Amino acid sequence: MTRAIALHQVSKAYGRAPRAVDNLSLSIAPGEFVVLLGPSGCGKSTVLRMIAGLEEVTEGELLLDGEPANHMPPSERGMAMVFQNFALYPSMTNRANIGFPLKLENPRQDHSERVESTARMLGIESVLDRYPAQLSGGERQRVAMGRAISRRPSAFLMDEPLSNLDAKLRNHLRAEIAQLTAELGVTTVYVTHDQAEAMSLGHRVAVMRGGVLQQVSAPREVYALPENVFVAAFIGTPRINLLRAVVHAPLDGRMSIDLGRQRLPLPEPLSAEHQLLRIQQGRDLIVGLRSEAVRIAPPSHARPGEVALSGVVEHVEYQGHEALVHLNTGSQPAVVPELESARPQQAARRRRRAGGGGTGVGVLERLRERATGHVGGPVVSLDEPVSGRQDPHSPDRPGLMAGDLVVRTGPDMRLRRGGQVPLLVDLEHLYVFDQQGRRICPLPRDVPGLDV
Ligand SMILES: Nc1ncnc2c1ncn2[C@@H]1O[C@H](COP(=O)(O)OP(=O)(O)OP(=O)(O)O)[C@@H](O)[C@H]1O
Ligand SMILES: [Mg+2]
Repeated sequence: MTRAIALHQVSKAYGRAPRAVDNLSLSIAPGEFVVLLGPSGCGKSTVLRMIAGLEEVTEGELLLDGEPANHMPPSERGMAMVFQNFALYPSMTNRANIGFPLKLENPRQDHSERVESTARMLGIESVLDRYPAQLSGGERQRVAMGRAISRRPSAFLMDEPLSNLDAKLRNHLRAEIAQLTAELGVTTVYVTHDQAEAMSLGHRVAVMRGGVLQQVSAPREVYALPENVFVAAFIGTPRINLLRAVVHAPLDGRMSIDLGRQRLPLPEPLSAEHQLLRIQQGRDLIVGLRSEAVRIAPPSHARPGEVALSGVVEHVEYQGHEALVHLNTGSQPAVVPELESARPQQAARRRRRAGGGGTGVGVLERLRERATGHVGGPVVSLDEPVSGRQDPHSPDRPGLMAGDLVVRTGPDMRLRRGGQVPLLVDLEHLYVFDQQGRRICPLPRDVPGLDV
């Protein structure tokens, strides 16, 4: 039997600290694989532990198969949990470890057949008579999974089960987990902070930030239609380029998006989506460009819907099958504070700039407060106001910050550091977010599904 799990406006408070989980509602269908994704400390494990019954629900309701379950003892929930630090009993063979929950449940019965079939499923038959200390990390984690599934639980709760393993093994086991849970058809809630893992495993991905659920959607949808800047920035590698922008909509001319030193002219007639931008005229906005929305090519190669931009090459990251080109287009990157550590170079530069003082700092603080004080959708804080730009050639000019745009190219493209390259931006793939980080463009639409 597999379970439906529902959380209805669930919160968790530890003492006086800000709520670890705040007003979270989420319904998980029987057999569904849902991934909880978010940065460290956002409340993922807390949600999982409340579902398991290891943590009390402070407010709201947990329903299992539609029945209130806030106070149901963990042992009655029939769920199996797999943790990052898989604790196997060192003095028991792997066979005994896998069979242990079965033995607890029914001490007199012979469970060897179930243990063998579980081991076969996980490809660890040959190590059953060894001890955990005699296994590799990957094998140990498989034994831990075996112990969790041997009982055929009604739901799997997995808390970063692969994060102790090296990248190659992690990818391998990831595929195995997907296959195994699909075969068993058991409801699975899987916690990770690795977006690639979330996207490849989940039927749906639930993105959390600071205890608040941001979006729950199929992987394709979280990628294509992120509700806000935080989700857009958390999902996708390389990270979406986020640039501060202002819509320029003259009465007698073509509408464009001002990115600082350059403008993106919007094609006419304006699409319904781009029409929406007219009312945003003059407001601080954030433009999002994923690396696939921009290519290095001259204006003469523009396809319908592509407009020209240019950038100066800052540096090139060679990746083997492709290269990531960091360009300076003279725009000001928008900042999602929790995610900044992933871009240390920029963060360091920003700190240096902030340390330099100047008139921008008070406004910076105000903007930050405004953005983070917004209930339910605090998403982005902007470093400095877009208005009041300075001379583009001034050394203090934020627009001169290196690498505001990352673009992918083939590995063989020859690029010179400091050289200017022509770019084409595909406006079909243009994201626009408001000051609070909420998506304005593109409008909701059907995202094609995956036929398997
Ligand atoms: N027992 C506890 N007592 C007090 N605070 C706690 C307790 N457990 C968790 N917290 C706090 O609750 C918040 C959410 O913690 P949680 O463990 O759910 O985060 P997480 O998303 O799983 O993070 P990570 O990715 O680092 O595991 C954190 O701020 C954490 O410090
Ligand atoms: Mg955790």
